[in-house]
Amino acid sequence: MLGIFQKSLDAGKFDEDSILADGSKLKFDKIYPLDAVFDTRDDVPADVSSNKRYAGLDGFTIQECADAVAADYGKIDIFVHSLANGPEVAKPLLETSRTGYIAAMSASSYSLISCVQRFAPIMNEGGAILSLGFIAANQVVPGYGGGMSSAKAQLESDTKVLSWEAGRAYGIRVNCISAGPLKSRAASAIQKGDKRTFIEVGIDYYLANAPLQKNLYSDDIGSVAAALCSPGFGAVTGEILYVDNGMHCMGWATEQAGEKLWARSDPLEESELMGTKYTKSAEEMSKYASS
Ligand SMILES: NC(=O)c1ccc[n+]([C@@H]2O[C@H](COP(=O)([O-])OP(=O)(O)OC[C@H]3O[C@@H](n4cnc5c(N)ncnc54)[C@H](O)[C@@H]3O)[C@@H](O)[C@H]2O)c1
Repeated sequence: MLGIFQKSLDAGKFDEDSILADGSKLKFDKIYPLDAVFDTRDDVPADVSSNKRYAGLDGFTIQECADAVAADYGKIDIFVHSLANGPEVAKPLLETSRTGYIAAMSASSYSLISCVQRFAPIMNEGGAILSLGFIAANQVVPGYGGGMSSAKAQLESDTKVLSWEAGRAYGIRVNCISAGPLKSRAASAIQKGDKRTFIEVGIDYYLANAPLQKNLYSDDIGSVAAALCSPGFGAVTGEILYVDNGMHCMGWATEQAGEKLWARSDPLEESELMGTKYTKSAEEMSKYASS
């Protein structure tokens, strides 16, 4: 992933989305390698160290990453955990193996605990940690399998316990945004029907059934994340905040979610694809900034 990200960045694929409100371009000061299933160097098995995917990468465990950040910047204010992986996500829970279930939990929820253990000590008091949850944590979303629903439930529960422990130990806040469906790279891998993917069906379902009938964009999530991590939200911790056009509050759907949506054969329009590449237009953003 690091290689793909670096190549896309170098090729200017994120240029359009990197323009800030003042017209300048967002710059990454530094990019660190990280595999969040490893806590310390001792946890990395020999076959992983020698695997070509890791060739040339130094210090990709969570502890080594935290050490490198501390060496470069001293203390930090904000830490965002925006990662998940479940190798058996396409399998129903009823068919998920123990190995697949534990792998989903290791990458998607324990990784937050390990990050808080290792990054909280290098955070300034008043700092904020944020993770990304999904409604499948506490309600059934058919198709979100492989133990990923369980991992998201753990993530939300851990958010509350960590807010208590890290609040008392370091004076930092721990929150979680439960996001609505966005057609990201990871989400696109979840489940494929004959014609459509899980996430395309999810996007259609939200458009049809959420209180707000409008596209959900990645910057809808980003702007709430920025707010939650800002001092203005300095008294908010242990919170699971839905950013989903209000879908979470519905008890009844008005449109069918099953066969009809899976059977839709026409592809989603560009404007309906709400992955990271799809942010609000500059015109919409300027309205938002001035309001
Ligand atoms: N896309 C959605 O509809 C949606 C909805 C709710 C919550 N989320 C959550 O948002 C977060 C970001 O996912 P996304 O959908 O934007 O997809 P994404 O593909 O943009 O991001 C997923 C990231 O996880 C990283 N990752 C996976 N395993 C890792 C590991 N072992 N170590 C380090 N990094 C690892 C990948 O490299 C990738 O950058 C996830 O927690 C996801 O569950 C997504």
